[in-house]
Amino acid sequence: MQDDLIVSGLHPLLAARWSPTTFDPVFELDATRAASLVEAARWAPSAGNSQPWAFIMGRRGDDTHQRLVRHLAASSSRWAPSASVLVANLAHRFVAGTDWEYSEFSHYDLGQAVAHMTIQAQALGLFARQFRAFDRDAVAAEFGVPDHWEVTTMSAFGRAPATTDSDADQAPESVRERRAVSELLWTSARPPAS
Ligand SMILES: Cc1cc2nc3c(=O)[nH]c(=O)nc-3n(C[C@H](O)[C@H](O)[C@H](O)COP(=O)(O)O)c2cc1C
Repeated sequence: MQDDLIVSGLHPLLAARWSPTTFDPVFELDATRAASLVEAARWAPSAGNSQPWAFIMGRRGDDTHQRLVRHLAASSSRWAPSASVLVANLAHRFVAGTDWEYSEFSHYDLGQAVAHMTIQAQALGLFARQFRAFDRDAVAAEFGVPDHWEVTTMSAFGRAPATTDSDADQAPESVRERRAVSELLWTSARPPAS
């Protein structure tokens, strides 16, 4: 395993991750595995261990899932409802009743917690797509989220269609492109390409 990592440079879980816009509409994620996604987020690092995150999780068929689906944008409503699990990702932005930042890193830390969830999902043979295409204010109102919390993004988790436990090799639906490593490393000789 260690040698493989040195050759490919990337852990297989990371190498296999991509974000589908098609999910198996039949597959249901059991409560134990769904809870393990939250457990993964729980163990993410955060500034001062402030843990500035919370999640509204709905499993397809339950009331929470239906209430989240109501507020999807036209684009995400084409694919997100068929995911087994929808999660609204909340950042603890302010100290209650004040305009003081709860943590200057709340978005950073929430993103990291969601990344942990995503990789836990990948380890369970699932796929995830994070998205912004929904009505944040409507979700906040729907679930009584107080002003000092922000509904930031949502994640859809599920199986890609026709995936089975033994069929781990899925092809992304479209070409995925990334900037070169050489463009990411900022040196005094050459800043990253803009
Ligand atoms: C914060 C955030 C917001 C995103 N919003 C959307 C969205 O509204 N709709 C969508 O289809 N995908 C959305 N995505 C998915 C990205 O488009 C996707 O991760 C990106 O194209 C890279 O593809 P990959 O995840 O397959 O590597 C979002 C991803 C992140 C992290």
